[in-house]
Amino acid sequence: MTDPERLRRRALDALTTARARTALLTSCVDDAELTAQHSPLMSPLVWDLAHISNQEEQWLWRAVAGREALRPEIDSIYDAFEHPRAARPALPLLAPAETRAYASDVRGRVLDVLERTPLEGGPALVDAAFAFGMVAQHEQQHDETMLITHQLRRGPAALDAPAPPPGPGTAGLPAEVLVPGGPFTMGTSAEPWALDNERPAHTRVVPAFFIDTVPVTNGAYMAFIADGGYGDERWWAPEGWAQIRAHGIGAPLFWRREGGQWLRRRFGVVEPVPEDEPVLHVSWYEADAYARWAGRRLPTEEEWEKAARHDPVSGRSLRHPWGDDDPTPEHANLGQRHLRPAPTGSYPAGRSPLGVRQLIGDVWEWTSSDFLPYPGFVAFPYREYSEVFFGPGHKVLRGGSFAVDPVACRGTFRNWDLPVRRQIFSGFRTARDAGAA
Ligand code: AVJ
Ligand code: FE
Repeated sequence: MTDPERLRRRALDALTTARARTALLTSCVDDAELTAQHSPLMSPLVWDLAHISNQEEQWLWRAVAGREALRPEIDSIYDAFEHPRAARPALPLLAPAETRAYASDVRGRVLDVLERTPLEGGPALVDAAFAFGMVAQHEQQHDETMLITHQLRRGPAALDAPAPPPGPGTAGLPAEVLVPGGPFTMGTSAEPWALDNERPAHTRVVPAFFIDTVPVTNGAYMAFIADGGYGDERWWAPEGWAQIRAHGIGAPLFWRREGGQWLRRRFGVVEPVPEDEPVLHVSWYEADAYARWAGRRLPTEEEWEKAARHDPVSGRSLRHPWGDDDPTPEHANLGQRHLRPAPTGSYPAGRSPLGVRQLIGDVWEWTSSDFLPYPGFVAFPYREYSEVFFGPGHKVLRGGSFAVDPVACRGTFRNWDLPVRRQIFSGFRTARDAGAA
């Protein structure tokens, strides 16, 4: 990535790919649905669209190009910290047509800025096209947020996508993989578009452990339910037990029991829950309870990353489980190409050097770890991306879901959320100490 023209093309591609997805997610419903709040947990879709463009304007038009605000009066409406999601429908939001006009005005100006900005050397914000990569990742993250809104939305399906190609399944795969003890490199200082919380690269010594070869499936999770897992306080962290009692939770979000079988609602379609897919829409508390019921535990974040990146032959940490190349459709289920996880055992080409499958794509994987800074962390370019979320309130998720674009997904990428969250595309795998046979 040292050739400036390649960098420019990469930035242009990332911005264009994100916008195509944004356009689809905001044009497949009518204006009334765009401005409606489909869940108090989420913003109206039209807010996301304007917020995406407002961030793009702030970082690329103002900070990089040094230009004046285009519409200074709207900044506060689209500031995620000033207004919680539940309060956003009551704001004087731009109407859909005006929002689209603003979005395309900003994008036109930004493409000019990209043409004219030297992308090597210079301030850290533009070196290696970082700000352009950051803005493209931000838009893709909101494309995932908007897909969650689509999943929560009631009514007939607005989106459709083919099922993932049939995979080889798990026959012949070991249930778990031994990750040898010893040091490995966690995080990155070299990945040009890595966000502040993934930095810097540093050494961690991780004792040997076993980790599931594939994520926990719906079928395995059904066995936990059938065994009375939701009724047995022994498996639950106290706050998790309180949550399932208070809300009458007895299955993953969007599941219901009918005629002796489990059904799920997925983007407006009700269908039987496939037993061989990774379980989806579980909270950290549900993942943690399942792991305890199974006599296991969630992996720590460092265990997850070592399982995903450590190459025992070279001793190096790879960008992705399969190596340093960007993801292709053979490696992982990413980019909203399929609106569901693939059956476990899929994507053998995406396996890690130790043989762990489906670490990238399909479902975000809960880890046992709190979201904390790495040693040497420096907030960049703004404290509100990561720093204000550090602490015991948020748990780390790794690996990315089917809803994540490759530009916002890599072996070092860190996501985080509250442990009660279940509308996100979250699943998990389990682990155990290697000492505890
Ligand atoms: C990294 C997914 C937790 O959506 O809250 C979007 C990403 N930051 N806009 C979020 C983000 C600012 C963030 N997550
Ligand atoms: Fe945002």
